[in-house]
Amino acid sequence: MCELIINGGNRLCGEVKIQGSKNASLPILAATLLTDERCVIHNCPNISDTNTAFEILNDLGADVISLKDYVTVRAKKLCNDKIPQDLMGRMRSSVMFLGAILARCGTAVICNPGGCNLGERPIDIHLRSLRRLGVRICETNGCIFCSLGEKTAGEVTLLYPSVGATENIMLLCAGLDTSVRINNAAREPEIVDLQNFLNLMGADIRGAGTETITIYPSHRLHGCEYRVMPDRIVAATYACATAICGGEVSLVGAEPGHMRIVNAALCATGCEIKNNGSGILVCADSRPKAIEMIKTLPYPGFPTDVQPLLGAVLMTADGDSELCEAIFKKRFEYYSQLELMGADAEIKGSTLVIHGRERLFGTEVSAADLRGGAALIIAGLAASGTTVVNNVHYIDRGYESIERDLKLIGADIMRI
Ligand code: EPZ
Repeated sequence: MCELIINGGNRLCGEVKIQGSKNASLPILAATLLTDERCVIHNCPNISDTNTAFEILNDLGADVISLKDYVTVRAKKLCNDKIPQDLMGRMRSSVMFLGAILARCGTAVICNPGGCNLGERPIDIHLRSLRRLGVRICETNGCIFCSLGEKTAGEVTLLYPSVGATENIMLLCAGLDTSVRINNAAREPEIVDLQNFLNLMGADIRGAGTETITIYPSHRLHGCEYRVMPDRIVAATYACATAICGGEVSLVGAEPGHMRIVNAALCATGCEIKNNGSGILVCADSRPKAIEMIKTLPYPGFPTDVQPLLGAVLMTADGDSELCEAIFKKRFEYYSQLELMGADAEIKGSTLVIHGRERLFGTEVSAADLRGGAALIIAGLAASGTTVVNNVHYIDRGYESIERDLKLIGADIMRI
């Protein structure tokens, strides 16, 4: 298994290109099932989750060609409607294929998805929404059998603005000659990217980015060529690395409009953040300031995926901070590893109370999930001495090469 070795203490300077968005490319890859024509997708990140998505597409019968700068997918004919257990188990977003397979085949068989262990991650909102739209669903022995019935509802209201459930409904309905309104939809930028892709395929979807999305009847969907948005969580990762290490880093290709609240939080720690034409410039020249309280919320609120990353920064802040995690039940796993590095924090219900320490100390730590693993790296970059991060495969799910990017801006990090 790979490990990352980090010698902490370097200031970070220079520029780093931000990869394409994992959470936008995955539903877009699922959308390629809605046509028998070729789709060309640029800026699709080369990470293990997209490679798993390619395996799912191949297993369903699609032709996937992944080249350096783009991926082509052609689902000319599907050979089955089932996603095998081992592929479902590898990532949460495998559930995203459900709506697209159903729209293409009329039936679909999946089992409960896997993915990062962030606590209980049910798919009840997905299934309740699909049932409302007339899908017949039978759950036996961990498998979920779905088949399209008579459409029964012109609108569906989500009890919680679930990103995945919003995307699943868009994928199911974009391919049908039906109109549906989604109330209390998720508003993430990745949903807007999916709408843009589907509309380029010939769908007629409006409202993504707001809480009400309407899918109007459309004709047969066709192939298209599209460029995936930049990954706002990867950009936030390197912004947090700059905040904890000090320095001046340009995040090339980052979209300022996707990062407003993250940038505001980093400014509260004392960073100076400017839009510099090619992306975002992050400057930090002193020890981070504490943030009295910040709470994760659905977009446009503070993103849960950035909570561990900011948590690492605040572990070295001058004062006490409180991080309230309102989206996932188990997203503080990383702090027990940071405690091995000298961090001082405690969990009080869904809040992590952090007592900032001037210095963390390098030691051996283990990643337990994707963003928690990235938080350990951020802490190691500022710690004195050497930090060894194990279970790097979690981090490779979402970062093309985190050590390549960090080396570019001056970090002393290598993979063994
Ligand atoms: C997406 O996950 C992202 N993943 C996550 O990023 C991100 O943390 C999350 O949205 C929130 O922004 C992808 O897009 C591939 P949700 P998703 O459905 O769709 C509960 C990363 O690091 N819920 O909005 O799974 C759920 O348990 C990953 O890139 C139900 O209860 O998120 C959670 O508490 C981690 N029932 C909350 O809602 C459901 O049917 C948010 O889930 C669905 C969700």
